[in-house]
Amino acid sequence: MKNSFYITTPIYYPSNKMTLGNCYTTILCDSIARFNRMMGKDVFYLTGTDEHGQKIEKIAREKNVSEMDYLNEIVSDTRALWDKLDISYDKFIRTTDNYHVETVQKIFKKLFEKGDIYKSTYKGLYCTPCESFWTEEQLVDGKCPDCGRPVEPMEEEAYFFRLSKYQDKIEKLLTETDFLRPQSRVNEMINNFIKPGLKDLCVSRTSVKWGIPVDFDPKHTVYVWIDALPNYISALGYLQKDDKLFKKFWPCDVHVVGKEIVRFHSIIWPAILMALELPLPKLIYGHGWLLFDGGKLSKSKANSGSVIDPRILSDRYGIDAIRLFLIKEVVFGQDGPYTQELFLNSYNTNLSNEYGNLVSRTIGMIGKYLGGVLNKPTQLTDTDKDFMQEIMNKRSSVFKMMDEINPTGAINLIFEMFSRANKFIDENAPWVLAKNGETDRINTILNILSEAIIITNTLLLPFLTVKPKLVYASWNLDIPNNFEKYNEFGFIKNNTEVVKGENLYQRLDINKEIEELNKIAN
Ligand code: ME8
Ligand code: MG
Repeated sequence: MKNSFYITTPIYYPSNKMTLGNCYTTILCDSIARFNRMMGKDVFYLTGTDEHGQKIEKIAREKNVSEMDYLNEIVSDTRALWDKLDISYDKFIRTTDNYHVETVQKIFKKLFEKGDIYKSTYKGLYCTPCESFWTEEQLVDGKCPDCGRPVEPMEEEAYFFRLSKYQDKIEKLLTETDFLRPQSRVNEMINNFIKPGLKDLCVSRTSVKWGIPVDFDPKHTVYVWIDALPNYISALGYLQKDDKLFKKFWPCDVHVVGKEIVRFHSIIWPAILMALELPLPKLIYGHGWLLFDGGKLSKSKANSGSVIDPRILSDRYGIDAIRLFLIKEVVFGQDGPYTQELFLNSYNTNLSNEYGNLVSRTIGMIGKYLGGVLNKPTQLTDTDKDFMQEIMNKRSSVFKMMDEINPTGAINLIFEMFSRANKFIDENAPWVLAKNGETDRINTILNILSEAIIITNTLLLPFLTVKPKLVYASWNLDIPNNFEKYNEFGFIKNNTEVVKGENLYQRLDINKEIEELNKIAN
C-alpha cells in the first residue's frame, strides 16, 4: 500500500481577506489531512494564494501601494487565520514565489516547443479605462461589468493552449473513470463543456502587466489558469533542482475545490498534465457552497464588518465550533446554508449536549458510585457485548467513509457513537444499580462506557482540534497521535483514578448570542 497522501486546496485570490467560504475548504482538507496522518500515512497538505492578474494590479493602484506590499499584508493575514483555525498545512505556496514563476515559464516553453501552445489572435470586447477584455456574456446591459462604461471590439496577439486536441481523452477520463466526484459534477461537465466541444484556451495577455512574463516573448504575461493550476506541481519541485517531493507525492490523491472551479480542475488541468506527459491526479472533488442569504459569499461582501467573520466566531465560540459546523452541518459535496441560528444550535446540540455532557456525566458517575476509581470489567453481559460490537462496527465505517473522502459521513457516525453511548447509560441506569449496591456491575458499565468514549474521541481528533485532546487526562491516558491507540476495548488499567476535567463546552443562550452577534455587526 502506498503510504503517502497528497491533498490540496485551491490557491485563493488575495483580493481581500479570506472569508468563511475559503475557511470551508481549508478546514475540510485539514481534517482529511489529519485523519490520514493518524492512519500513519506520510501526508503533504498544500494551500496558498493565487497572486497575479489585473484585479490585484487594480487594487494595489487604488490603495496607492505596490502589488507586493498589498499582497504581503493579505498573505500574512491569511496565514494568521490558518494558524488561528489550527490548519496543519505542510506548505503555503504563493504564485509570486520565484520557484513557481520559473516553473511556469518552463512549462509554458515546454508546451510551446511541443506545439501544444501556439500564437494567434485573441478577439474580445475591451474596456479601455479598465484595460480589461470581456465576453458578451460577462457584460452588464451591454457595458463593462466593472465600471459601466461602453466596451469595443478589440484584438490582441495571444498564445493559446490546444485544449481541443484533448477532447476525446478528457471525455473518456470523465465518463469512464472515477476522476471527478461527486457524480453530479461529471454530468455538468459533460453537458456544459464536453458536448459543445472544447475550444482552445487563451493563455497569455499583452494587456496584463502583473503576471508571469513569457520568457521567450516578454511582452506577454501568462494568463490565469496556466499560472494558477501548476502550483500543485511547482510546490513539489517539478522541473526544479530538488524534486524529491514531486517524486514522492505526485500524482496527487485529491484536489479539493469549490464547484465553480471544477471545470478548470477536471478539464483544463488534466489536459495540461497530458500535454506535459505527467500522471493525472487520482481525484478531483468538487464540493458545494456554504450559502449566505442563498448565495456564495464574495470576498468584498464578507469583509464589510460582518458577524460571519471567522475570526470573530472563533474568538467567541472556539475553533471546534466552526470546524464542527462546516464539516457536519454542510453535507460535503452539496450546498448548505449558514445562519447564526444553525451555527449556535449545532454547538449546543452536538458539542454541549451529545458530547460534552456525555463526558462529564460519565466522569461524574465514576466519582459518585466508584469513588473515582475504575477497574477492569469482571463479567460482560450480551448487551454489553452488543454495545461494544456496535461501537467497533461504527468505528470501521468511519474509516470507510474517510477512504471515500466523506468527512460529513464520518463525523455523523462519530456523533452516532456518542449518542449510542448516551443510550447505553440510560439502558443500564447505574443510579438504580447503586441503590442495590451493585458496585461490580456499575464498574463494568462505566468501564466500557469510558472506553467507548475514548475510542470515539480518538476518531474525533482530526476534526475538532482543541477540546477532544483534553479528555484523555481525565482517565490518565496519553493523547494519541495515531489510530493504533485506543483501537479496541481493554486499555483501561485496574485502579485507574478518574478525575474531573474542565467543562468542555458551556451551553449557549442562543437568543442572547444572536443579539450579541447582531450588535457586533452593526
Ligand atoms: O477561485 N462555500 O480563488 P478564490 C464553499 N484563485 N467554498 C467556498 C466559498 C463558499 N461560499 N467561497 C469560497 C479561486 N470558497 C482561484 C483558484 S486554484 C488553482 C485557483 C472556496 O479566492 C472554494 O474552495 O475565488 C472555492 O473554490 C474557492 O474558495 C475560491 O477561492
Ligand atoms: Mg472566486
